[in-house]
Amino acid sequence: MKARLIINKDFSVGEIDKRIYGSFIEHLGRAIYNGIYEPSHPSADDMGFRKDVIELVNQLNVPIVRYPGGNFVSGYNWEDGIGPKEKRPRRAELAWHVIETNEVGIDEFQEWAKRANTEVMQAVNLGTRGPDEARNLLEYCNFPKGTYYSDMRRAHGFEEPFDIKVWCLGNEMDGSWQIGAKTAEEYGRIACETAKIMKELDPSIELVACGSSSLFMPTFGKWEATVLEHTYDYVDYISLHNYYGNPNNDTKAYLASSIDMDNFIKSVTAICDYVKAVKKSDKTINLSFDEWNIWFHSNEADKKLERWQIAPHQLEDVYNFEDALVVGTLLITLLKNCDRVKMACLAQLVNVIAPIMTENGGKAWAQTIFYPFMHTSNYGRGVALAPVVSSDTYDTDRLKKVPYVETVAVVNDEKKELTVFAVNRSLEESIDLEIDLRDYENAELIEHIVLEHEDLKATNTVDNSDNVVPHNNGATSVGERAANAILNKHSWNVIRFKI
Ligand code: AHR
Repeated sequence: MKARLIINKDFSVGEIDKRIYGSFIEHLGRAIYNGIYEPSHPSADDMGFRKDVIELVNQLNVPIVRYPGGNFVSGYNWEDGIGPKEKRPRRAELAWHVIETNEVGIDEFQEWAKRANTEVMQAVNLGTRGPDEARNLLEYCNFPKGTYYSDMRRAHGFEEPFDIKVWCLGNEMDGSWQIGAKTAEEYGRIACETAKIMKELDPSIELVACGSSSLFMPTFGKWEATVLEHTYDYVDYISLHNYYGNPNNDTKAYLASSIDMDNFIKSVTAICDYVKAVKKSDKTINLSFDEWNIWFHSNEADKKLERWQIAPHQLEDVYNFEDALVVGTLLITLLKNCDRVKMACLAQLVNVIAPIMTENGGKAWAQTIFYPFMHTSNYGRGVALAPVVSSDTYDTDRLKKVPYVETVAVVNDEKKELTVFAVNRSLEESIDLEIDLRDYENAELIEHIVLEHEDLKATNTVDNSDNVVPHNNGATSVGERAANAILNKHSWNVIRFKI
């Protein structure tokens, strides 16, 4: 098969906000305990953080990490996780039916983020609590000194404010599973009042209002419009969450998941702009896709979990090669929409539906989905160019005309690099992709990285952690005004040029 990608340096989608490569760590399963934090592990540092995990997080170059939930945040008392560890209460945690020891809280997580070279996106509890708790937490984190909560932080050994810039106003408040779930009216009002006082206390912060829990919620659309009607003047972003999966083992359809993501983004953008028009506002609300990933492999195992354990193996999806291809197409889709998607969080980062896995007391390793994320996060910085693609297409039961090639190009003027990310969705044929380089005539190939595997279900496990890894022997030839890249059947490709 043949396909063509035309790019023009004057036609950009927009500047990529690096926070599009964010991630998420929730108090859930082994994300915190025996994930990032395991004091008895041989690689633990002075605070009990696993250095082998930090090393993998660094490879992903994650600029921001959402914390502490997720569903967890809607029942969380942040005060439980500060001060002397021996005095912290153990709680029955109702979102995931486990025991929360509170050994790690806001102070420790801030410190972990520093050590992992990332920032925190902090969520507040608008489930069981409200504006007062959010105000106090903000004062604890960001107020310099001389008040009750800022001096409490200092007494705990943190003289400097944490200066957290991005705050989420609750989590998935439309979901019946959410502790303290609300109607759009109820949530819109409380989010508005919370946002108002938070910005009074620290006008430099940015706020994210909760959108629908997924594109498939019955209230989707109406929820966003109502919430934004209440909060428009006080918030900066609306959240999108969506998880994808292949429960029916229909790989062709599964590989088209990014079409759903694209529709979701376009719909939410339209709703934001509808409210903007109704309000005759100059302000634009942007999108925070702060939970996205594949999640389905662990569903059955999780149904059998015994309740009230500490740090059980929960939501531990073992990702295969086709999952990595889907994650690649989802990343390309975020880049293609970077004019409105300013933040996104791969949910999650360690052990819980995550690119990084750990063994208690043992190894840490990269799952298959680690690689497309690592490549885009490292090479997908700069400006995304609007891709004009001609490619053959296929139909699934639900979607028509799915292109075999999903692709986008990113130009980094500082580094003088042009990078093309491309997935070949065909399960049978390779594709000769012609990349029009008329605007980059002297482009030289740096490398063509490929992630491929004959077995779509191949995984990386503790004993075979290098089963699915990228190589850089991809076949790309560069001519005067074009390059030709061979995209092998079902493969993820990163074609890097010096310009
Ligand atoms: O990431 C796992 C869960 O998925 C989060 O806690 C919740 O927000 C979503 O439903």
